[in-house]
Amino acid sequence: MADLDDLREGTSFGSAPVKTTEGFHLKGLGGQDWGMKARLSRVFDPADGKTVMLAFDHGYFQGPTSGLERLDESIVPLIPQADALMLTRGALRTTIPANNGKGIVLRASGGPSILNDLSNEEIAVSIDDAVRLDAAALAVQVFVGSENETKSVKNLTTLVDQGQSAGIPVLAVTAVGKEMARDARYFRLATRMSAELGAAFVKTYYVEEGFETVTAACPVPIIIAGGKKVEEKEALRVAYRAMQEGAAGVDMGRNVFQSKHPAAMLSAVRTVVHNNHTPDQAFELFQELSH
Ligand code: R5P
Repeated sequence: MADLDDLREGTSFGSAPVKTTEGFHLKGLGGQDWGMKARLSRVFDPADGKTVMLAFDHGYFQGPTSGLERLDESIVPLIPQADALMLTRGALRTTIPANNGKGIVLRASGGPSILNDLSNEEIAVSIDDAVRLDAAALAVQVFVGSENETKSVKNLTTLVDQGQSAGIPVLAVTAVGKEMARDARYFRLATRMSAELGAAFVKTYYVEEGFETVTAACPVPIIIAGGKKVEEKEALRVAYRAMQEGAAGVDMGRNVFQSKHPAAMLSAVRTVVHNNHTPDQAFELFQELSH
């Protein structure tokens, strides 16, 4: 039993108004529950509201693609440099140390492989397992404009409902079908739909024309996917432009793990996102670290 001797009544209540916890570092998310905000703070650095997510969930539909043949060798050494990790539960349980300290953005949709129609996805993780894995967010693909548009949007809203009840935010990943134009008009539609249907943040691609209208029209943070492997300087230019035009971060995969110097590339991306360094400055860092 607790000691009941010497119970002291509190007397130091101060005179200043009690400080409130108002204010949150992420656009549109100040009204969320505490647990939701705490999880989002494991993805987006509270110091600047930005994130560098390392994406290596590609195996869920394309198997051991180049750079991801051995996650233990190629990805695990990069973890300290990422703010958050985007991955499948299989990769998490088999390969990622539980003491990594990073926000886990768990791939929560799947089904078809590259041999089939990729838009034909289902929800692939239960909310109970997401809680067990201490997921900081759930990621679901939305295929706006595809044959499976309604089904994939339903996957999003189902996960949002489940996520709200558990305090886990949902990342909507806007996927573009082969036949669709990757332009600002399309991404304004897909990102705004995702936010209005409850996504806490949205992943999209950078577009050269009008990207600032995509970020302006979306009431929650937008992050960009890296996309297919290009020269390091070009990937850094795209990341820089996206950040200047309102993105809250990058979720980069192939342009990191398919680089000849993945750790150097991740450092260069970080300096663009968190230090506002120009592509030239970041590329210089990449070159320095590559030797
Ligand atoms: C793809 O389906 C996954 O969501 C990837 O995590 C995403 O596309 C980011 O990877 P990358 O930078 O290679 O495009």
